[in-house]
Amino acid sequence: MIHFRRDKLRFILAVGFLIISISLVLRLLDNPELQLGDIMERSMGGENSVKLKPDHHNDGPSAVKCGLAAPCPKNDFAFKIASGAANVVGPQICFDGKIIIEKQASKNHPGITIVVIEEATGELIKTGSYNMWNGDVTELIHFVNSTESGSLVLMASYDDPATKLNEEARQLIAELGSAYISNLKFRDNWVFVGGKKTIVKASFEQHLKNERSTNKYEAWPEMIEMEGCIPRPD
Ligand SMILES: *[C@@H]1O[C@H](CO)[C@@H](O)[C@H](O)[C@H]1NC(C)=O
Repeated sequence: MIHFRRDKLRFILAVGFLIISISLVLRLLDNPELQLGDIMERSMGGENSVKLKPDHHNDGPSAVKCGLAAPCPKNDFAFKIASGAANVVGPQICFDGKIIIEKQASKNHPGITIVVIEEATGELIKTGSYNMWNGDVTELIHFVNSTESGSLVLMASYDDPATKLNEEARQLIAELGSAYISNLKFRDNWVFVGGKKTIVKASFEQHLKNERSTNKYEAWPEMIEMEGCIPRPD
């Protein structure tokens, strides 16, 4: 009775499949953070194979500095800069694995936020944040002009970086390597990395114009994120 045996076999397979499915569902319910793949792996390879998987929630020493898409060459400084988003989320500047300006900190000033790094060591020298909507541009001018030679300078806009920016200030920022600063206008988004008389001529810059027709947020363009690697001088 071949037919009978085949049906019996099917029945056994179906019951077996059902039991496995139920046990998977129960485990998922038990620990909703587990992914199905993890359970399969755990069922088949035991606990150890799960532990070997990288933990994306943990910024351990093996994590890529500043969260770059790909790690920098071993001796380079990694950086990542985000301009502000609308007038809600402040700018963020990360250098060599350290978040120096943190998004949504309470000190988010509209305008231009600046981080100055000693090129030779990668050490933080100073930070500044200048309100370019109704602040005093002479403070920004003094900050940039008094920056020592051999400094990397990282800048990010938030809300409005341009209204108070005069020719003198634009000239000083152009001397750090910015090609766009002379065109920067009301509520443009802008991120920049340059330097004052550095050995390595680092130059990174991105901008988004504030235009109603293309803005992501009605009165503001989309946030900009820029990342890169700056070679350390020998
Ligand atoms: C920058 O500082 C020097 C002195 O350190 C001064 O002579 C010069 O006028 C300053 N430039 C600006 C644009 O403020």
